Amino acid sequence: MSYIVKPAAARHLSALPEIERAATSVFSRDDLPSAGQLQLVSDEEFARAQANDRLWVAVDGQDNPVGFLLAEMLDNTLHITEMDVHPDHARRGLGVTLLRHVLLEAEHRGQTAVTLTTFSHLPWNAPFYGRNGFAELRPDDCGPELRARLANEAERGLNNRVAMRRQVRRVERTRHWGDA
Ligand SMILES: CC(C)(COP(=O)(O)OP(=O)(O)OC[C@H]1O[C@@H](n2cnc3c(N)ncnc32)[C@H](O)[C@@H]1OP(=O)(O)O)[C@@H](O)C(=O)NCCC(=O)NCCS
Repeated sequence: MSYIVKPAAARHLSALPEIERAATSVFSRDDLPSAGQLQLVSDEEFARAQANDRLWVAVDGQDNPVGFLLAEMLDNTLHITEMDVHPDHARRGLGVTLLRHVLLEAEHRGQTAVTLTTFSHLPWNAPFYGRNGFAELRPDDCGPELRARLANEAERGLNNRVAMRRQVRRVERTRHWGDA
């Protein structure tokens, strides 16, 4: 199957909540013990992000979204709020491709870095980002908005959360999928 990563269009928005719900199923109850600790993205936030050019989708050959990356500005830095790939399409390089696309986009927008918060202990979170050039930030090195985000996550009962940052530099945007 072939995929493309591109800016989200309004027609893609209705598919995103189901991708988010399905992607959440990869977390254990130890990591997300209650629904209250999950902040699902509202329809309004998806629409705002799409209108403000901070939402990207991975689509299949029929233009159906199978993953997305939602970003925002924190401390004047492009911050990855959430990235989800539907488990039916996982481990085909879509996460890496969404990430590369947004790093390139950040560079085009004149940003010097990209940040995120994630779980430190899950292989598809901090280690995955670490392999893709992100380094953990000590709380003292976080800007005030990023620190507040970590504090909010802790208040919601999320453990083992870390902030990470990657300097922006030129990255490969594309990846090709063979038919075989
Ligand atoms: C993180 C996520 C977006 C990655 O999407 P993806 O399309 O599977 O990512 P890729 O195929 O580019 O790379 C995945 C890499 O992450 C790691 N990984 C992914 N899922 C994994 C799993 N279940 N167990 C162990 N490692 C895993 C592997 O190193 C994998 O590379 P590999 O397949 O070559 O071994 C996806 O796992 C997801 O939606 N997770 C739930 C939501 C989430 O954690 N979002 C990020 C929060 S900050």
